[in-house]
Amino acid sequence: MKSYSIALIPGDGIGQDVTEAAWDVLQVAAKAGDFYLEGTVFPWSCAHFMETGAMMPKDGIELLRRFDAILLGAVGWPAQVPDSVSLHGLLLPIRKSFVQYANMRPHRLLPGVEGPLKASAFDILCIRENTEGEYSGAGGRVHQGTADEVAVETAIFTRTGVERILRFGFEQARARRGKLASVTKSNAQKHSMVFWDDVTRELSAAYPDVEVTSYHIDAMAARMVMAPETLDVIVASNLFGDILTDLGAAIQGGLGFAASANINPDRSAPSMFEPVHGSAPDIAHLGVANPIAAIWSGALMLDHLGEKDAAARVMAAIEATTARGIGTRPGRDRTETITAAILSALS
Ligand code: IPM
Ligand code: MN
Repeated sequence: MKSYSIALIPGDGIGQDVTEAAWDVLQVAAKAGDFYLEGTVFPWSCAHFMETGAMMPKDGIELLRRFDAILLGAVGWPAQVPDSVSLHGLLLPIRKSFVQYANMRPHRLLPGVEGPLKASAFDILCIRENTEGEYSGAGGRVHQGTADEVAVETAIFTRTGVERILRFGFEQARARRGKLASVTKSNAQKHSMVFWDDVTRELSAAYPDVEVTSYHIDAMAARMVMAPETLDVIVASNLFGDILTDLGAAIQGGLGFAASANINPDRSAPSMFEPVHGSAPDIAHLGVANPIAAIWSGALMLDHLGEKDAAARVMAAIEATTARGIGTRPGRDRTETITAAILSALS
């Protein structure tokens, strides 16, 4: 029987609640699909930091490298560990070390979910550059604490990084409805963003079947609200993609529905699957977190592993559940109720 080794990092807060739910669903999907998912749990989290002084051990990245994929819940517990420490100690090093340069986030309304917009028929795939750009971490602070203090944070755009994410965007558009929206702010940022637009234009010659349009980030934010049905694949830098995907989550009914896949397209290292939402300390362990974003992320993982049928079955089970009105309104249904409904739709 085919077997996949999965590293489970539930992390903090509701990350633990939703990872458990997702894992239950994935196990049932695996059984039905005649393959095996072997999970290894890593307790790396802010609690782990409080105990050991580190979010993960020094050889954490090497420990993860041998897995076929990583399923992550959420990272962050700001009451105990500053976000700038916890994220740079776990989530961000995994994305960068494993060259998970394409962060794919689907935004569409599940059946039965009422978003805040009048438009109900949109199906957007947002692709966020995930390893460089504005989140490179290049910079520093000098004269700290004085009136002369200076903070510099430099965005890094390399030809390698920009080309590969745009190419990935073109490929995704080609496999979908053939439309690519490339997002920059090249009217105000005249170096990096003009460079991004140039590379978009250069690559477009190799994809004559893809209709590519460059948008400015501010105009794209408005378009996602006013005319989301006009969009297919969006490709954007790390910061812009980060912001647009929270907007995408909002128009699809909330963060409880927003799934994400941190993909290493070359498969030279594991990819990582996680809901877009955070650890939500205010509702942690109350049993009210919506597990759909995590379960959908699990479906993206199955798809990436090549288990396309199982992935489709999990998506169908999620859709059958929301079509019955279960899990469609924030806070109404309990995590276990939603999970049980998805499990029964699967069997
Ligand atoms: C996300 C999150 C993270 C990011 C934070 C927690 C660093 O907001 O996955 O969108 O922006 O990468
Ligand atoms: Mn974000």
